[in-house]
Amino acid sequence: MAQNVERIEKVMLAAPVIPVLVIEDPKKAVPMAEALVRGGLPSIEITLRTEGALEAIRLVAENVEGAIPGAGTVLDQAQYEAAVAAGSQFIVSPGATNTLIDIAEQSDVPLLPGAATASEVMALMERGYQRLKFFPAEQAGGASYLKSLSSPLAAVKFCPTGGVSLEKAPTYLKLPNVLCVGGSWIADAKAIEAEDWSGIEERARAAAAISG
Ligand code: 3PG
Repeated sequence: MAQNVERIEKVMLAAPVIPVLVIEDPKKAVPMAEALVRGGLPSIEITLRTEGALEAIRLVAENVEGAIPGAGTVLDQAQYEAAVAAGSQFIVSPGATNTLIDIAEQSDVPLLPGAATASEVMALMERGYQRLKFFPAEQAGGASYLKSLSSPLAAVKFCPTGGVSLEKAPTYLKLPNVLCVGGSWIADAKAIEAEDWSGIEERARAAAAISG
């Protein structure tokens, strides 16, 4: 079985940017997600880097209309299954392992695995994957590097994430092999902690308006 391209593209094409979030206090997840959705960013990646992350996903899935909550930083089977049980509609990993791909094949919830080199991309292509996260985008070589992959690996489309900003996003989004970008700049840990929902909404609106 191959990647469910239709399902992952729904997530990737919902808006130009997927906000990547680190949430300590799950109680902040609902107002934060509401601000993101109001601003025009429905796909929301909550990273499993905090104790409250799974609860945050569950609360968003149950309470925020229009949101497409997903889990990020999913590294193993237990996390994949817990993320799905919490209501994740997509799963993101910084890389890819055979174990993760095997689990994804048995799940209705699609995986967006990470890759940073031609060989990593080709290994995922062998498993039927053509929609990938390019990670860490800026540190691995940025938009010019990713552009170089577009001709030999034309079937593969990416969500570059890592070091991407409002200023850098348009250059990525103009590439033929980019469907969306990911980044934490819309709602960083400080903004969430400060409950700056209007600031988050404003940055979401600016991100949603980026055209490639
Ligand atoms: C991460 O590793 O947290 C994500 O890739 C987001 O990266 P960023 O904070 O550089 O946007």
